[in-house]
Amino acid sequence: MRIAAGADHAGFAVKQAVVRHLRAQGHEVVDLGTSDAGTSVDYPDFAHAVAEAVAARDVERGVLVCGTGLGMCMAANRHARVRAADCTTPHLAEMSRRHNDANVLCLGGRLLSEDEAWAITEVWMATPFDGGRHARRVAAIERVGAGDCGDPADLEGADGSG
Ligand code: RB5
Repeated sequence: MRIAAGADHAGFAVKQAVVRHLRAQGHEVVDLGTSDAGTSVDYPDFAHAVAEAVAARDVERGVLVCGTGLGMCMAANRHARVRAADCTTPHLAEMSRRHNDANVLCLGGRLLSEDEAWAITEVWMATPFDGGRHARRVAAIERVGAGDCGDPADLEGADGSG
């Protein structure tokens, strides 16, 4: 499978481990950064890059890692056709595939060890979508268009003070 991966500084180490495992399994991974843990970067930049690749169908799946997975998930889910799930257990990973056809996996680099993150990812990669009644529900998600993030300057605290 062709997969895009992205992380901020807090998710870098786990992203590296997951990318290594995915490649060892024969997947083609497009690593969209970040490229070190020492430089503080903004997670939405990586979430949007991976989500855009999924939305454009340049890749089949995406994996995003930040400190908790939460910010990555919020940003990725702004994109049409992206169903990002922040999974902290293999069971959540399984259900996100079976019922929600999740195409982006979000992980918390400050919550999970590299081994835990890979265990979650391995289940997520291997689990098919159940389809059936779940397909109708997943299609209904797309009835609402992707949000327009708008001009960040309009947001309170967007100057970095927040
Ligand atoms: C970075 O400190 C942290 O806020 C980020 O990695 C992520 O956890 C946000 O959701």
